[in-house]
Amino acid sequence: MSPRPNPYAHAPRLPEGDAVALDSLFALRGGPVELEVGPGRGAFILERAAERPETRLLGLEIRRKWATLVDERLRARGFGDRARVVCEDARVALGRLAPDASVACVFIHFPDPWWKKRHEKRLVVGDPLLDAICRLLADGGEVFLQTDVATRAAEYAAQLGGRPELEPAGDEGGSPALAAAPHGAESNREKRARADGLPLYRLRYRRRPRS
Ligand SMILES: C[S@@+](CC[C@H](N)C(=O)[O-])C[C@H]1O[C@@H](n2cnc3c(N)ncnc32)[C@H](O)[C@@H]1O
Repeated sequence: MSPRPNPYAHAPRLPEGDAVALDSLFALRGGPVELEVGPGRGAFILERAAERPETRLLGLEIRRKWATLVDERLRARGFGDRARVVCEDARVALGRLAPDASVACVFIHFPDPWWKKRHEKRLVVGDPLLDAICRLLADGGEVFLQTDVATRAAEYAAQLGGRPELEPAGDEGGSPALAAAPHGAESNREKRARADGLPLYRLRYRRRPRS
């Protein structure tokens, strides 16, 4: 029997090339650009697009199925000119985006549901991703990360807090911790975690001005 064709073989991708201009991905000209790493089923990007008509949004999702379906939903809701999801490994794809200092915000909701040593190579939050985020964020731009796993939150705080380009931008001076989500949109995992009464660890950092 021949294998069944993958129904998501034609998932949307970034254009070929070493450098991909963010402006070239959207029909809407001008306005802030925000990135979401691993949007999954897409609740956050869909709600954010509805909330922020002036903002351009790009989701980078490694699973073909969710990249395809969420990109279709964005189009079906009339956001296709300014909000897209492409099927890419964010660790690689962010390194191709241009220009530097052009992104207002990067969202990373509940990354890395991997716990075994042998799955460490799948972890999305690491030096390649953070190098690209620090390069792409405009001065004063923000990176927001949340998780429901306390040990992971501490690891992320150490990784992001160790970056000289970033400063903590939480509720209190010198801390990245935020008590509430400040974005008027929630990811699927966030909705479920809230319904289940799980603790949520929310971290926000701001890009220091380039000298
Ligand atoms: C635990 S899920 C969270 C989904 C969504 N952010 C939420 O909060 O509901 C992690 C998501 O990250 C995606 N992901 C994992 N590694 C990735 C990578 N290297 N690049 C892009 N997406 C990735 C997964 O496919 C999945 O959709």
